[in-house]
Amino acid sequence: MAARTFTVGNFKGGVGKTKIATMLAYDNAEVRNEKTLLVDLDPQANASDVLAKSFGLSSLDKTIMDGINANDFNEAITHLSDNLDLIACTTNFSTFEKYVIQGFSDEADQVTVLKNLLDPIKDKYQAIFLDVPPTISVFSDNAMAASDYSIIAFQTVDESLQGVKKYVSYQNFMAQHYGVSLQVIDIIPCMLTSDDKLDHDVLSEAREEFGDTVSSTVIKYQKRLKGYSRTGITLNRNRNGNFEQWDYRAHAGFIDLLNELDARDEFVQSSKEA
Ligand SMILES: Nc1ncnc2c1ncn2[C@@H]1O[C@H](COP(=O)(O)OP(=O)(O)O)[C@@H](O)[C@H]1O
Ligand SMILES: [Mg+2]
Repeated sequence: MAARTFTVGNFKGGVGKTKIATMLAYDNAEVRNEKTLLVDLDPQANASDVLAKSFGLSSLDKTIMDGINANDFNEAITHLSDNLDLIACTTNFSTFEKYVIQGFSDEADQVTVLKNLLDPIKDKYQAIFLDVPPTISVFSDNAMAASDYSIIAFQTVDESLQGVKKYVSYQNFMAQHYGVSLQVIDIIPCMLTSDDKLDHDVLSEAREEFGDTVSSTVIKYQKRLKGYSRTGITLNRNRNGNFEQWDYRAHAGFIDLLNELDARDEFVQSSKEA
């Protein structure tokens, strides 16, 4: 069966998209032992850098541009571990917009370039996560068209609820305009500061507006999670075999989220069949 494909989005930068995409991919592969692919579609390549570091790679020889040039995404895959693969990005990928616009005159063809490359390799995986830049652009349009589900990173600060609303309405536009069938599966509150009243107010407001689509799992602001951007992701064990406590705390929320995504996916699938 083809992998379930998730875009982690929001048209704002610095809200936790890359953190969520990389942690979900890492834990899905390393803890849940599912065949997982992360596709980095952001020319800033933060996700590529952090995953390379996490698996001790000092450089990435293959990138998404190799897959585009060969018209075959198999040429772009870096194996990080038994279960985790990466399609890495590079600053060169900023030329994707030009490539799409010059190569395809039909608007509908312009948004499905990525989908057409990704579909043939979906059978290799159980889950695929796409990390995108914070822009309304060919990158985000192509990611939406290639995905089954959208996950929205929702930083619980003032104004960010507006960002979520904008993202949802743009997604509706994509559905109407291009027939993209994408379901918002989860709005993930992230970087919540426990003692900040404003954060909690914004979260309550989001729950009123979006109901259960807002995840019951909240990703708090954690120094360990911040640190992974620099050190790479770790999930170390003590000598007694238990997880090191700060790593465990950093990962636990994402494992809950993966279970939640499974349950929600099952619900969506069963309501389609009914
Ligand atoms: N839950 C968190 N706790 C602490 N720091 C976080 C958390 N989530 C993200 N960060 C940090 O916030 C910054 C922005 O996050 P990032 O995922 O890169 O955002 P985006 O991809 O939306 O631009 C990074 O420095 C990242 O390490
Ligand atoms: Mg990012």
